[in-house]
Amino acid sequence: MRERSTDFTGRLLNVVRETMVKRRAILELGQNRQTPFYLFDRKELDKSIKEFKFEFHKHVPNYQAYYAVKSNHYPGVLKEVVKNGLGLDVSSGRELQLALATKVKHIVFSGPGKTPAELKLAIKHRHKVLIQMDSFSELKRLGELLKKGETIRAGIRIHTKLHGSWRKFGIDLKELAKFWQLAKKYPRIKLEGIQCHMSLNETEKPYHDLIKILGKYLRYNFSKDELAEIKFIDLGGGFMPRLVDGYYPWDMPQGDVIKTAADFYNQNPNFTAKYYINKPATLKDYVETISWSIKRYLKPVVNCHYFFEPGRIISTKSMHLVMRVIDVKDEDMVILDGGINMAGWEYYQTNYYPVINLTRPALKEIKVLLQGTLCLPEDFWGYYCYAKKMKENDIIIIPNQGAYTYTWAQNFIKPIPPVINL
Ligand SMILES: Cc1ncc(COP(=O)(O)O)c(C=O)c1O
Repeated sequence: MRERSTDFTGRLLNVVRETMVKRRAILELGQNRQTPFYLFDRKELDKSIKEFKFEFHKHVPNYQAYYAVKSNHYPGVLKEVVKNGLGLDVSSGRELQLALATKVKHIVFSGPGKTPAELKLAIKHRHKVLIQMDSFSELKRLGELLKKGETIRAGIRIHTKLHGSWRKFGIDLKELAKFWQLAKKYPRIKLEGIQCHMSLNETEKPYHDLIKILGKYLRYNFSKDELAEIKFIDLGGGFMPRLVDGYYPWDMPQGDVIKTAADFYNQNPNFTAKYYINKPATLKDYVETISWSIKRYLKPVVNCHYFFEPGRIISTKSMHLVMRVIDVKDEDMVILDGGINMAGWEYYQTNYYPVINLTRPALKEIKVLLQGTLCLPEDFWGYYCYAKKMKENDIIIIPNQGAYTYTWAQNFIKPIPPVINL
């Protein structure tokens, strides 16, 4: 649960309108096959990639992007990303195998606790793979695994005071100079850069602050020769898609307290806002700030490439969830034939996503509890639906569910549904 800085009430009619353009095609797919399914939207994915490339190319010309496979590893997604010239960012041996099955030219492998088998796989494909090491211990293990004649490119992941509870990743920035010197003991490891991913950056500020801290550290702790060894700085992902989702009032500490008390006394908490819409920075704002901060804090110190590892900003619009109404339980409650095992966790308790009845669409939401088929009350998609009415067999879509749902899916009670191409 986070304190939000971008509260914005309103409605996501933009999402409804974008989806309505595809209504006929989706209805045809939905009516003629078993629901639920993930709908792969290649055109939207392609648009997101192009937007990303356009902004970054304009403002950070010496950038390289590695799509974060963990956000959606569907082969159709990976193929499209690679076709558009992006590299892949993987975090396990399994993801590395998926990446190697594409035509990708460049892979970065990050993540804590890499196993010897995973490191060996990376070494085997060292002409494509750069390892983002995670600790002093991993430096030693990697160094010992490399045989005579084998060299591999590498970076070291760091965390700073800005990373908060994410300090399990990488080493403390304060130890970077020590790490850099120690790495010289392993000449088969070509240490070339620094990785410092931060997640869920609703504004551009965390990038500015991180770049400032890193620039200052390098200026005072690295020698001229060491600075010349830095070939890349990897600023990770964390860019949020805009105007696609929101959150309920109880996703904030004060709302959570009110809802918990109301639930305890079996009362209606009566919040003034139904939900708030997330309005993070625009891609342009993120990139302009990053570019400005690099010029101000890093360029005077180090001359290198900049890597990025975008995940959700690329994959969010690449998939939608399609289901049908299987049971109308009450005027204000229906059962959809998809369960939240499709999405892997209980996002929908606190996060708001627009849901549209494609069979009976409307530009206004009706109040209706949208439950799934799993044997859990938490199997729940939302409180509202853009619909005139809800009837059995109606085709329902939850648009823009491409990030961290397909990869989180579980076969709890129900199987993981198939992916259908739009
Ligand atoms: C190392 C690393 N890079 C990139 C990403 C992608 O983040 P996002 O999907 O928020 O862009 C993640 C996600 O947690 C990550 O752990």
